[in-house]
Amino acid sequence: MKKLLVVIIACLAGISARADEGMWLPSLIHERIADMQAKGFKLSAEDIYSINQASLKDAVMMFGRGCSAELLSGEGLILTNYHCGYAQIQKHSSVEHDYLKDGFWAMKREEELPNPGLSVSFLERMEDVTSIVLRGYTPDMTEEQRIELIRHNSTNLIDIATSAGKGLRATVEALYYGNQYFLFVYREFKDVRFVGAPPTSIGKFGGETDNWMWPRHTGDFSLFRIYADKDNNPAEYSKDNVPYQPKKYFKISTGGIKEGDFTFIYGFPGYTQEYIHSEGVRYISEISDPCKVALRTLRLDIMNKHMSKSQAVRIQYSTKKAIVANAWKKWQGEAGGIKKMKTVQTNQDYEKRFIEWAKGTEYEGIVEHIDSIYKELETHHFIVDIFSETAQTIEISRLARQVSGHSLESVKNISKSFFKDYYMPIDKECFVALMKEFGNMIPDDHQPAFYKEQMQKYGKVETWADSLFANSVFADEAKMESLGENYHDVLIHDPASIYYIEMQNWALPHLNKARALNRDLQLLYRTYMRGQMDFAPDRTVYYPDANLTLRVSYGHIKGYSPYDGAYYHPSSTLKGIIEKDNPEIFDYNIPQKLRDIYHNKDFGRWVDERGEVPVCFIATNHTTGGNSGSPVINAEGNLIGINFDRVWEGTMSDIDFDLDFCRNISLDIRYVLFTIEKIGGAAYLFDEMTFVE
Ligand code: ARG
Ligand code: ASP
Repeated sequence: MKKLLVVIIACLAGISARADEGMWLPSLIHERIADMQAKGFKLSAEDIYSINQASLKDAVMMFGRGCSAELLSGEGLILTNYHCGYAQIQKHSSVEHDYLKDGFWAMKREEELPNPGLSVSFLERMEDVTSIVLRGYTPDMTEEQRIELIRHNSTNLIDIATSAGKGLRATVEALYYGNQYFLFVYREFKDVRFVGAPPTSIGKFGGETDNWMWPRHTGDFSLFRIYADKDNNPAEYSKDNVPYQPKKYFKISTGGIKEGDFTFIYGFPGYTQEYIHSEGVRYISEISDPCKVALRTLRLDIMNKHMSKSQAVRIQYSTKKAIVANAWKKWQGEAGGIKKMKTVQTNQDYEKRFIEWAKGTEYEGIVEHIDSIYKELETHHFIVDIFSETAQTIEISRLARQVSGHSLESVKNISKSFFKDYYMPIDKECFVALMKEFGNMIPDDHQPAFYKEQMQKYGKVETWADSLFANSVFADEAKMESLGENYHDVLIHDPASIYYIEMQNWALPHLNKARALNRDLQLLYRTYMRGQMDFAPDRTVYYPDANLTLRVSYGHIKGYSPYDGAYYHPSSTLKGIIEKDNPEIFDYNIPQKLRDIYHNKDFGRWVDERGEVPVCFIATNHTTGGNSGSPVINAEGNLIGINFDRVWEGTMSDIDFDLDFCRNISLDIRYVLFTIEKIGGAAYLFDEMTFVE
């Protein structure tokens, strides 16, 4: 451990990072603050993270379990992305109240809508607990024993940390593949109400076509409010709760932005693998990504076909489709970016040099060992990938798995919410398409006996599907409703249950084997990580891979050249929305109100020096999934935007961050304010915000 610290410090002292790459731990930000200030930042490390006084961290939160958000007022008003609040917006929507189509704006507090199950978490404090977590560890322990020890030691820490106040939750997270451990203590609020969102035609403008792309014109925001009990503490939903009064909230900069400006993202990035071995990169980019993309293309085509035919189906499948499509597109960009960057080759070259250097050190053989484990892992990993993108996506088999072990009453409740968003023809057509492709992708000698039997019995997948969907109670709402006391018997013998269990039985040994091999890899990576730091302290300044903990990324607003002959400017405007406007295409059909505003140039105070309303901008901040909704902060510490995406040419940044191509995409805060005022007619919300020039 000491050694690791020495290396980290040596790295920090000597060499500057590949400019702007990195996701930094807020409690260690004093190590980066000089660099941040040299790049324009005006505040101190204490202003970013402090446990003694209110700091910016107190205005940032995890939204649900996969997005970020920030406070806009002293009355608990929060801003996140439209796509982060999407599931909630959809849940409140029906054909009669189509908030997706029309938008929603609470005009007073009583109209704000509760969201059972949604919570937000603020980081109270974080702490290096490596020595406590590893207390009792001896090098002769197996990885299993080590994991058990860490679990035990962490449980104690978590219990102590969470007993100190209301609404506390804590986790212990491994950094640098378990070379270091940190305790994170959060305060979690569970009464979070929906305040407002633009219509989908603004909040998701450009749909999947523009997703992961620049130039971008998506008004990707929604507003919520945190409620607390009378003492300002977290509490379950109650109509007696009152708006939460935070220690800190963001002041909003209306002064605008320009190329070169310092930008700072404060949020919860989910998962990156910046130090991964070339074989890992090869598997992801050449095998896993392309196969998963092919399978999802089949599902998306089916969803799109039915969604374009019926408004009800469009509402039912909007969230499901967005989730499927988002990763589907990202994987394509990622595989393409890795190919273009020649990351596999670059890493192989690096590993060759490492191997030479490692001779006679404790790191000798480590790269080769990792390589051999990846080779062994490949088939198992592939089968797990295929299983999760086929059998695990069939909705009736998911329902079968979800209700198993539940009481009759709870089975009926689960099934009720399932059928609100279920359209059988989609599920059935997906089954047919996926099971056909399954037969092509899995070589004969690896196919499950069950699959072969069914194919033999029915002759073709279509007939198998006819029988499955006609006979399964999981595909029939009325049958689910009329289940009686013998429900357990009925459900376990149901063909959808049998299908799922058989497919799972096939995948399970591979899953277990993959888990075991991944555990071995984890152990090797722990050493390899230390070795990389020893070997090439000047390769980069090291930062821990993202793991859904609070991080700081800083950079600056900057355009880029995606390919020869082209240059992308860093900021887009309403003019571009009008250029893309097309009433014939759902994703580009903007509200008439927005057209009118544009033609009358009714921009109010939101017009910029170009005479346009600014919409989105790009910068060099290193971000990933989970950073959506993160505040974008300027040199003075004020809010200039909200992060929501990355550019197409830079989607490989989870594995290979490159300053020429990697850009994060943010929504300009002025477009948020413009939309609230001009589209929502909800400018009353400005009264609780603080604006600065
Ligand atoms: N690509 C962004 C992210 O990974 C935004 C996704 C939401 N938008 C969409 N059209 N699906 O989450
Ligand atoms: N759109 C992503 C999110 O939802 C952000 C990203 O992957 O850049 O967190």
